[in-house]
Amino acid sequence: MTTVQEAVRRARAYSAAERAGCTDPLARPLRTDPPEGVRDENGYPKIENPRSLRSVARASQDCRGCQLWARATQTVFGEGPRNANVLFVGEQPGDQEDLAGHPFVGPAGRVFDEALAEAGIERKRLFVTNAVKHFKWRASGKRRLHERPNSAEIAACRVWLELELRLVKPQIVVALGATAAQALLGRAFRVTKDRGKLVSSPLAEHVVATVHPSSILRAPDDDSRRAQMKTFVRDLKAVAKLMSGPIVGESARE
Ligand code: URA
Repeated sequence: MTTVQEAVRRARAYSAAERAGCTDPLARPLRTDPPEGVRDENGYPKIENPRSLRSVARASQDCRGCQLWARATQTVFGEGPRNANVLFVGEQPGDQEDLAGHPFVGPAGRVFDEALAEAGIERKRLFVTNAVKHFKWRASGKRRLHERPNSAEIAACRVWLELELRLVKPQIVVALGATAAQALLGRAFRVTKDRGKLVSSPLAEHVVATVHPSSILRAPDDDSRRAQMKTFVRDLKAVAKLMSGPIVGESARE
């Protein structure tokens, strides 16, 4: 629990660092809360217009539904056209996304973009978001290393994902990796076993999960990286097929 004095000290240090133009996230002190009264008792901010994606995105910047906000630069809300047919869900923003404020713009984003291009899907037609909207990390020397969000953090962030789903109303939802799949489809879902299979879900007409692009970056050698990329592209091609017409059968892959 942070004492009032501690919160005041951090707030002063934070704004002093900001005024001094300190952009190094490792050198930054913890963020502290803006004034009382902008959030409910669970730490969720008031949304001016819950029917407006922009208004929801703006409100999400003040979310204190879990503790991750304090060490993150900003909330990274989903991006893409409001009328997107397809909504992709990743795990959480990484280091570069946290700094830029946009999802999938770092190394995993580059793998994602490359695979989308190979599958013939234009990213500008997609709504791309994450199950958790703040970067969770631990320091290792000068680097911020990704830490997997826990189930309480995923549950706390679910309200934003639900708002994105309600407002975008995609026909196809694609979970990238285990965290997204479990956030959307329950903890029993196994991407290793059920990737590429259409899942019956109230979330959207078609729901499917595949691997997270960062798993391809972690492949032990070039051969396995190529093989994993090929399978990822195959899953995305199945999504491209769903985007272009009605589906037949149980599997999103042919
Ligand atoms: N990994 C994710 O899951 N999401 C991002 O936005 C970036 C990396």
